[in-house]
Amino acid sequence: MKTEVLQPTEENIARAAEVIKRGGLVAYPTETVYGLGADVFNAEAIKAVYEAKQRSLSKPLIVCVSDVDMMKRVVKNFTPAAKTLIDRFMPGALTVVLDKAEGIPSEVTSGNDNIAVRIPDNDIALKLIRAAGTPICAPSANTSARPSPTLAKHVVDDLDGRVEVILDGGQSKLGIESTVVDVRNVPKILRSGGVTRESIEAVLGVTVETERKEGDFNHSSYSPRAEVMFSAFYDGMHRTIIDKYDELIKGGFNPVIMCLSSRKNFYGARHTYLMGNSYEEYAHNLFLTLRKADDEGYTAILAEGVPPEGIGSTLINRLIKSSGGQII
Ligand code: TXA
Ligand code: MG
Repeated sequence: MKTEVLQPTEENIARAAEVIKRGGLVAYPTETVYGLGADVFNAEAIKAVYEAKQRSLSKPLIVCVSDVDMMKRVVKNFTPAAKTLIDRFMPGALTVVLDKAEGIPSEVTSGNDNIAVRIPDNDIALKLIRAAGTPICAPSANTSARPSPTLAKHVVDDLDGRVEVILDGGQSKLGIESTVVDVRNVPKILRSGGVTRESIEAVLGVTVETERKEGDFNHSSYSPRAEVMFSAFYDGMHRTIIDKYDELIKGGFNPVIMCLSSRKNFYGARHTYLMGNSYEEYAHNLFLTLRKADDEGYTAILAEGVPPEGIGSTLINRLIKSSGGQII
């Protein structure tokens, strides 16, 4: 199959929607990361999504809809907490898990009776969904275990020849995935993401637990080819990072440090990637930088730690996963 990378003109979005309608796969931009879309009511198309991503059938797919009306086609009933969160955070980087409606192929939800759904805050995505006239799935458009794509180029790197169309929407606004919250009973965060736990708690007026998964340390996701290691967050962390960097050089590695821009001076002449001036910018640049390190021939990535609050919690979650838990 030949993959076409298209600019998101009205005409090209209409073409991409036709691909979805006849059961094909389209990668498209969202505000979090690029998604891999197919008609959620077409079981064959959904199976092709798992195949293209080389993803285990036991890992369910998020579904993207254009509005709350369309959400009713995939969800059986809304709980009060769901209504509150949808009202406050959608369109946006939040995904809710609810009981699933009839008629959704079991492949979408890996046989579960619940479904994860969100409304993306991206005009191209919304236009695509409206033109296709159907909810579309939205797993990240990378092959399994790779960092999520935040540029059309990343999708090409992973899925060239496996999707018909890639809509190029430039760099993802957030660069980190949505927060997945199970709102069927007591709200619980299943995956941290762009919407912080603190802001969810503020809206719901209760404390919300984040589920810890076994698997988080088994090096199965967000992995570039380079070895990733990260530091805990504390005043002298640059010294630990420098010691490790110098040790890696002696060991024949070609390391690079990911640090906040303001902290570059701590590292002298050592190679650094500047991750911006805030933890939001660090998150925005994370996946892109992991891939860039590979492209530029680095073999080890040393990431500065961040405080475990707000978007920092999400960053730590991704750093744990991409490093397989290698904390220095
Ligand atoms: O920001 C995002 O959510 C991006 C954009 C493209 O929408 N998508 C994304 O999808 O990150 P994916 O497949 O890479 O990650 C989806 C996560 C997985 O951890 C999956 O297990 C969980 O959501 N998930 C999906 N459906 C679920 C369900 N019914 N119940 C619980 N977790 C679910
Ligand atoms: Mg993913």
